Amino acid sequence: MNQLVHRHCPHRRWFRVLADHHAGTLLVRLRLAIRQSTTSAVRISTIIVQALCETNARGCGAAIIDCAAANFSPSDIVARVADRLVLVATIDEKIVGTASLHQSTVRIVFVRPDRQKRGIGSALMREIERSAGTRSVAELTAPSSVTAEAFYRRLGFIPLRDEFHGEGRTIIMTKQLSL
Ligand SMILES: CC(C)(COP(=O)(O)OP(=O)(O)OC[C@H]1O[C@@H](n2cnc3c(N)ncnc32)[C@H](O)[C@@H]1OP(=O)(O)O)[C@@H](O)C(=O)NCCC(=O)NCCS
Repeated sequence: MNQLVHRHCPHRRWFRVLADHHAGTLLVRLRLAIRQSTTSAVRISTIIVQALCETNARGCGAAIIDCAAANFSPSDIVARVADRLVLVATIDEKIVGTASLHQSTVRIVFVRPDRQKRGIGSALMREIERSAGTRSVAELTAPSSVTAEAFYRRLGFIPLRDEFHGEGRTIIMTKQLSL
């Protein structure tokens, strides 16, 4: 689904709704992140740090989580929104998840811990794959945390190799797209 609908957001900026996802009674709306928006960047940064501390912390040590969280400050997010495709999932216009595509690599896929396991991550990934397809990307790469490996496998990604950064393990996963 790709609604070409324009909506007004609380920050008085216009944006295009990419897709709607129904999670039980919740309406989850997917759209592009707004460029140069400090408010959005703070929200995205907060969700990432929450997910790192609550979800990823189950799979790795505190030092690794602290190091990862340091890479996702609001100013880092503003810079990333400027140089890649960044999607956000919203409920009642409040950001609850994000995913991004940098060339053929999927990066920064995070859903707020209390909204996980309701299909929001999968909905974001469907839009990432659709966007990759329109950019003629034939193969997607996803550097996955240990925690997210099962999530990516369910979406059809297969593990290619492991990479180690200090004590942190990243599983490089790939998926062929049918163009
Ligand atoms: C990975 C993540 C984005 C998934 O988001 P989500 O909204 O919970 O995902 P979905 O609800 O669409 O889940 C899709 C499937 O993956 C499974 N899944 C999701 N997260 C999982 C996890 N951590 N471990 C095992 N399975 C998981 C779900 O059970 C579901 O399976 P089902 O269809 O059989 O029920 C979310 O757990 C998260 O933010 N994790 C922390 C950050 C992270 O590791 N991101 C990955 C980038 S490296």
